[in-house]
Amino acid sequence: QFPTVSSRSAVETPVVRPRRLRTSEPMRRLVRETSVEPRQLVLPVFVNETLSEPKPIASMPGVVQHTFASLLDAAREAADLGLGGIMLFGVPAEKDATGSGSLDPDGVLNRAVREVREAVGDRLTVMADLCLDEFTDHGHCGVLTADGTVDNDATLEIYAAMAVAQAEAGAHVVAPSGMMDGQVAVIRDALDDAGFTDVVILAYSAKYASAFYGPFRDAVDSSLDGDRRTYQQDPANALEGIREALLDVDEGADMVMVKPAMGYLDVLRQVKDAVDVPVAAYNVSGEYAMVEAAAANGWINREAAILESLISIRRAGADVVLTYWAAEAARLLRG
Ligand code: PBG
Repeated sequence: QFPTVSSRSAVETPVVRPRRLRTSEPMRRLVRETSVEPRQLVLPVFVNETLSEPKPIASMPGVVQHTFASLLDAAREAADLGLGGIMLFGVPAEKDATGSGSLDPDGVLNRAVREVREAVGDRLTVMADLCLDEFTDHGHCGVLTADGTVDNDATLEIYAAMAVAQAEAGAHVVAPSGMMDGQVAVIRDALDDAGFTDVVILAYSAKYASAFYGPFRDAVDSSLDGDRRTYQQDPANALEGIREALLDVDEGADMVMVKPAMGYLDVLRQVKDAVDVPVAAYNVSGEYAMVEAAAANGWINREAAILESLISIRRAGADVVLTYWAAEAARLLRG
């Protein structure tokens, strides 16, 4: 409910002065409604199995494609900083039509999950992106039918096997991001059948077909030609995002996600109010790149913009924020 404004506030000399609560930093700190803590942040990372040293991503200044060795350093640092988790994305040497590298226990992502888990144990929540786009030669999130459309149900079978492979590698959390209908249900079923009843599903529920994923496509050397509008959501739709989140909770999602974050804060708030599980938001590559580019030009205060981005996402309802700034933000927050 909105506070009622009494007629007193209309007299010529203000009697009600909200500025009183803004007079000093301790006062502002006292009445602050929202905070960001390192434990709420998840660091997305990329590992490329063909590299012998980390490779900068041009459109994401400060972010690299990792080698296995540098990945483990980043994971240990994330644990030391008290971050909530790390989200792993793999860039394989070889891609094919069905994304078979995703199922190979020695494929880049499964190997990364295993090594990170060995390095950090239970000090950090280890999450794996569960999607085929990095592994397919056509760059789509699923397998294609003869006429080139993404085959929902054939893709589900692969997702189920991929979830089990990631769980076997040691993932605490699998994060289906492909926007196939029914993906959470088949993944839960497959994990349970394989005995992985404690592996968490973080569902990318309200995932929009967004221009703000542009830099990510560089980050994973995406081969996509075209767009994902037949499976990712139309940016114009909010109700549909809530429906997707409710469906995923019904199918067994332990947490749901809204993505991107900054342009979808209304969806985030509505999802937060509609579900009774933790809600995550993904502060995506394009949101990162815009702030970095503006800051590099001296057009914006970089650190202030980073913290304001994160507090806005938290204020809108995110319990968990995935952000490429996670490690830096944790350092800034500790002062
Ligand atoms: C799909 C996936 C994407 C992102 C995360 N998972 C790309 C897409 O859906 O096109 C984007 C993340 C970002 O832009 O930071 N595996």
